[in-house]
Amino acid sequence: MAPNIRERTYIMVKPDGVDRGLVGEITARFEKRGFKLIAAKLVSPTKQHLEKHYEDLSDKPFFPGMIGYMLSGPVFAMVWEGLDAVKTGRVMLGATNPLQSGPGTIRGDYALAVGRNICHGSDSVENAEKEIALWFPEGLVQYSRSHEAKVY
Ligand code: TYD
Repeated sequence: MAPNIRERTYIMVKPDGVDRGLVGEITARFEKRGFKLIAAKLVSPTKQHLEKHYEDLSDKPFFPGMIGYMLSGPVFAMVWEGLDAVKTGRVMLGATNPLQSGPGTIRGDYALAVGRNICHGSDSVENAEKEIALWFPEGLVQYSRSHEAKVY
């Protein structure tokens, strides 16, 4: 199968990341890596919206606390596009628990605890599509980049 240079992933700076002023840093890493930004907004989601986003985890003991944390302030929602955006996005984020996140990853460089791990990234192409539809029902931005030929 031909490589999909239009793969999309949903990346979100969580409330602690916004509060700590890490939006620019996290955005810059995806930009510099070569991914294309096709949607971004600062948003204060409702509890229902967050419960939908994390519905697969609803039976976990940490779920209520995690939703409370996610409601503690606005999040910065983004869609990034490019070759293997989902897998590479996860590598750039680092492991869920910052204790296991290597240095050089976003969580490995900026986070200490799993309950305050500053960013979210889709874990599969299927989930990325669902998350993008949930967070950006208004649609994405279409444009072409002049340097794209140099990226691929
Ligand atoms: P999960 O989907 O397992 O990880 P990831 O965010 O890397 O896809 O979990 C979602 C979030 O739930 C995670 O980023 C932080 C929170 N969480 C906890 O608060 N405690 C936990 O023990 C786990 C596994 C996750």
